[in-house]
Amino acid sequence: MKVLVTGGLGFIGSHTVVELHNAGFEPLIVDNLSNSSIDVLDRIAAIIGYKPAFEQMDLREKAAVNQLFKKHADISGVIHFAASKAVGESVENPLLYYENNINALVYILQELQKKESTNFIFSSSCTVYGQAEKMPITEDASVQPAMSPYGNTKQIGEEIITDVAKVSNIKSILLRYFNPIGAHPSAEIGELPIGVPQNLVPFITQTGIGLRQELSVYGDDYPTPDGTAIRDYIHVVDLAKAHVVALQRLVENKNLDKVETFNLGTGTGSSVLEVIKTFEKVSGKKLPYKIVGRREGDITSAYANTDKANNVLGWKAQSTLEEALASAWKWEQKIRS
Ligand code: NAD
Ligand code: WQD
Repeated sequence: MKVLVTGGLGFIGSHTVVELHNAGFEPLIVDNLSNSSIDVLDRIAAIIGYKPAFEQMDLREKAAVNQLFKKHADISGVIHFAASKAVGESVENPLLYYENNINALVYILQELQKKESTNFIFSSSCTVYGQAEKMPITEDASVQPAMSPYGNTKQIGEEIITDVAKVSNIKSILLRYFNPIGAHPSAEIGELPIGVPQNLVPFITQTGIGLRQELSVYGDDYPTPDGTAIRDYIHVVDLAKAHVVALQRLVENKNLDKVETFNLGTGTGSSVLEVIKTFEKVSGKKLPYKIVGRREGDITSAYANTDKANNVLGWKAQSTLEEALASAWKWEQKIRS
């Protein structure tokens, strides 16, 4: 079964391509390389034994999206990762985010709507919950006003998919990721941030390898046990596997609700200081860090209630924080060697 993986050379997409192959699906990757490198295709090939089908194209071009679906009329499912994802950049340049994250989604759905039946999986984010009132966060927690244009594109994306589902034969699953980290155990693929990393774990591994002098911990005055903010860090391979399970669910079940939503996290919250300590343990390195003020827009705590993903989707994260950080560290060392 041919599955279109948009953004399939990116961080989460590349790991999902590997897991789709492992599960017997035939991935077709589309990427414009705006936040990835063509080398990732060879790196995927090093893991799965062949180069998956790849089209370099920009999903903001409506005519190109139309051509893609004409050329590959046998696409029977889409996993839509392609998007811009830097929160700060989205505040600076909101239209880039609305254009990329919304237009591309609309063009793909326009093609899918022409099909008799099809399956769609959307990369959403725990950012839609904002600072939830109750931890752990269940899927029925209310969606909060978006804190950034990026976050807004995820909320609007979910709404667009839900509206379209009512009038089409598209069955969709919205996956709300918590904080994806780590890399494939082969260290062939992983996260490749351009410039200074904004996210915690790539900043830590780059500090560990000596590329950055020290980590700034954004705030130790949060109402948490050690004062630093809490997140749910999930291994990217676990996350990738959830996409395969979600796709199998769509393919195998005729009578699902048109749109289902699942949290993808481990269910365990870790503070910034706990992440630092765990990194020091797995790397054997002392991590230089200093406490600075809070980062604007950051929330205190977010971790998932994973009951629905466990019981309905039939998926559970397997890796510990230690394993995920060890894989991120292995990847960092390999790409710098
Ligand atoms: P990524 O930037 O590594 O991957 C996205 C890929 O999409 C890149 O390879 C990029 O080149 C490609 N792309 C972007 N715009 C495109 C376009 N117009 N046409 C074709 N290709 C395009 O990001 P990621 O971390 O793998 O995230 C994947 C998805 O998951 C995104 O939708 C992101 O918003 C969402 N998400 C990510 C996180 C996270 O922390 N990484 C958390 C929650 C949700
Ligand atoms: C984690 C914790 C920081 C860097 C962001 C997006 C979210 C989602 C995932 C896509 C926070 C602290 C970080 C640093 C630090 N992406 N930190 N020093 O903020 O939970 O989520 O990425 O949907 O939308 O907002 O992840 O990795 O940036 O931060 O102390 O140099 O680490 O304050 O508490 P975040 P993060």
